[in-house]
Amino acid sequence: MSEAYPIIEHKYDVVVVGAGGAGLRATMGMAQAGLKTAAVTKVFPTRSHTVAAQGGISASLGNMGEDNWQWHMYDTVKGSDWLGDQDAIEYMCREAPAAVLELEQFGMPFSRTEEGKIYQRAFGGMTTQFGEGPAAQRTCAAADRTGHAMLHTLYSQSLKYDTDFYIEYFALDLIMDKDGACKGVLCLCLEDGTLHLFRSHMVVLATGGFGRAYFSCTSAHTCTGDGGGMVLRAGLPLQDMEFTQFHPTGIYGAGCLITEGVRGEGGYLVNGEGERFMERYAPSAKDLASRDVVSRSMTMEIREGRGVGARKDHIYLHLDHLDPAMIEERLPGISESARIFAGVDVNKEPIPVIPTVHYNMGGIPTNYHGEVVDLKNGNPDAVVPGLMAVGEAACVSVHGANRLGSNSLIDLVVFGRAAALRAKDVIKPGTAHAPLADDACDAALSRLDKFRNANGGQSTAQIRDDMQRVMQDDCAVFRTGESLQAGVKKIGEVEKQMADIKTTDRSLIWNSDLVETLELDNLIRQAVVSMTAAENRKESRGAHAREDYPERDDENWMKHTLTYHSDEEGVRLDYRPVHDYTLTDEIEYIKPKARVY
Ligand code: FUM
Repeated sequence: MSEAYPIIEHKYDVVVVGAGGAGLRATMGMAQAGLKTAAVTKVFPTRSHTVAAQGGISASLGNMGEDNWQWHMYDTVKGSDWLGDQDAIEYMCREAPAAVLELEQFGMPFSRTEEGKIYQRAFGGMTTQFGEGPAAQRTCAAADRTGHAMLHTLYSQSLKYDTDFYIEYFALDLIMDKDGACKGVLCLCLEDGTLHLFRSHMVVLATGGFGRAYFSCTSAHTCTGDGGGMVLRAGLPLQDMEFTQFHPTGIYGAGCLITEGVRGEGGYLVNGEGERFMERYAPSAKDLASRDVVSRSMTMEIREGRGVGARKDHIYLHLDHLDPAMIEERLPGISESARIFAGVDVNKEPIPVIPTVHYNMGGIPTNYHGEVVDLKNGNPDAVVPGLMAVGEAACVSVHGANRLGSNSLIDLVVFGRAAALRAKDVIKPGTAHAPLADDACDAALSRLDKFRNANGGQSTAQIRDDMQRVMQDDCAVFRTGESLQAGVKKIGEVEKQMADIKTTDRSLIWNSDLVETLELDNLIRQAVVSMTAAENRKESRGAHAREDYPERDDENWMKHTLTYHSDEEGVRLDYRPVHDYTLTDEIEYIKPKARVY
């Protein structure tokens, strides 16, 4: 196979795949640690999806009122509906203030208070006094373009280090040895079609989520879960894939994000009867309840005939009562999006919104050092040598069954840095690479060759559309056994169509037809395991709302789902325990209780 596809070999200590917030922070840390590092990315770093994050990054700085990391941790555990690993959550919330101050020192242009401190706004599920006090203003913001500011800051910082960036290189597959250790990653240079094997002692997957498995999502078209696809093909599991977050306020029709920061600044949701219905569902937190709660409440209003518009199939988000000067200063981005994508002047009219797929809580299982873990010889936390994952691609698990808004950006920088700290401990810079087996790249090349020459009857676009519609219909905000069983069957049929796919461009140079097909192959695997895991979990927890099992069932389901997938055997399910311990005695394990807002 490698005679038909000559391979250029590179040797590094570390290869980071993906250059969004997590990938860049990991890359920078690896280089700081003296490790020879390559960053491989399919898009230019500042076009990564982190750029689209709007409302902010959480950290208990306490700039706008009393706060501490223990309260942040409590809210995150509760938000996760007790599926989050408490050691990892402690790590993230404890490290968050330093991580944000580091970004400030890097030059990130945060919005400011009168006194010149970092401005912080309220976000859903963020409270004080272990849920007993008023809403916390914990979300540090750069207007409503926080991800944009953060990504550009991290990219400019990362250029200070001696790192090699391979831009517009598409990662095809992990190269594993016979003992299950990762030895590198095979990539395609999109510009000239050359193949590159990046040998490394550590591959860090920072490839983002797989939102594009759905028809309507806030994710960029590039969010195709390439790391998750590679992990499944390597015989490793993905974790908690049944938990997909719907953001309450995607623009109706277009799907673009309208930040939760709108509600943090005083905006509110209204149904077709002009009622602020969130007061009924979450009497205390109201519009600032956590995302799963707000998305479900909106869906209930629509289902019960109280939606807005001609079809009564969406909800209004009002900010027309707010000071236009404040909107101009703190929410300029969503004002523009509302104008362009909904034809709305936010100072005069409400924005039509609908819950829209936004984030994957599930992903590649890791510990809080970013090391990928799998079940091995009865050990649920066995580290996979040579492989790390960070950011949305990973499931650490700090978000459990439901992520709180603004906990994603902090996850990126805290765990990007943590991965680098760990790599510094486990890799000696410049260590020689052991030879690889002659056929090490054959499976990856065969897959490339198969799709490049695919001559079936169905286009990539058609199969992708079929997949997205099945996921949208049957793996939705509310789920039932019936819809999920139908969904498992339907998504299995879509998966079978991959054998009959047709690509039309046979070249290797800027072959977007081929790349979209490889991306679809990554997406469909994750769609299949998500649907299967959702059908399998017979309880309601966080974003996984089963109408036939409306209660959380800690006795049977306080555990992480692992899903393995192979072309020959389909999906295999297993479980890992949730970490019910903290890292230090500065906080006790937060015991499960009913989750009300
Ligand atoms: O609503 C938002 O600004 C999104 C933030 C997040 O997902 O963390």
